[in-house]
Amino acid sequence: MIETNINTAFFHSWFRKYVKGFYSEDPKIQENIRLKEEHTLRVCKEIIQLGKALNLNKNALRLAETIALFHDIGRFEQFRTYGTFNDKISENHATLGLKVLKETNALSRLTKTQQSIAFKAIGYHNVRKLPDPADENPDCLLYSKLLRDADKLDIWLVVTTYYAQRHKHRNPALELELPDTPEYSLCFIEDILNNRISNSHALKTYNDMKLLQLGWIFDINFTRTFLYIQQRQIIEKIITTLPDTEDIRKIQNHLNEYIRKIGDS
Ligand SMILES: [Fe+2]
Repeated sequence: MIETNINTAFFHSWFRKYVKGFYSEDPKIQENIRLKEEHTLRVCKEIIQLGKALNLNKNALRLAETIALFHDIGRFEQFRTYGTFNDKISENHATLGLKVLKETNALSRLTKTQQSIAFKAIGYHNVRKLPDPADENPDCLLYSKLLRDADKLDIWLVVTTYYAQRHKHRNPALELELPDTPEYSLCFIEDILNNRISNSHALKTYNDMKLLQLGWIFDINFTRTFLYIQQRQIIEKIITTLPDTEDIRKIQNHLNEYIRKIGDS
């Protein structure tokens, strides 16, 4: 079979049309549908930047872009059905996305191999840990890693922008409807101090969510992503929104030290 180039314009127009079907007169719904639509388009840009830094060829970049474009396709149905982005109280948005893709046959223009990579990368995009290299094929893992880094980069942008402007406009969906109390769960502090990625099922407060987002640093796959984290001052921007306690100062030093070591290596 002759492999032709992936037509990303076709997929973008499919996506736009699909998302428009979820637009609503209700400003709260509309805000969150647009939020995920815009997030998706930025993740496409991030993944291309990361892929270019790894010298991926043109068609590999197009496949990466297509995977990014569809990675959160389940978010729209999730919000319409449940009015939340919290998977724990609704359903797994990656699994829901795969169902949408299969039902609509949206990826039929990709080869079977490309479809299988896309399905797996999307299915893996929100798991706590990727499978071991011995248990999954290298291409699938590469695209999964690219997607996970690109996705995190944009979520950090979304949340840090939100934290800075929250006093002007609140969106409970971005806080996973968690209570905004001064408390945080010590397991998240412990995880960071031990370079562990936390389990999202342990989230109890809005501060916990911020700590979880800080811990994503331990799940970064590419040097370029670290560079962006530093340039965009992600750690500082999240830390300033947390209570001024000994624990928080400890994790701030720990995270900065971790990033500095990576930069030196
Ligand atoms: Fe995403």
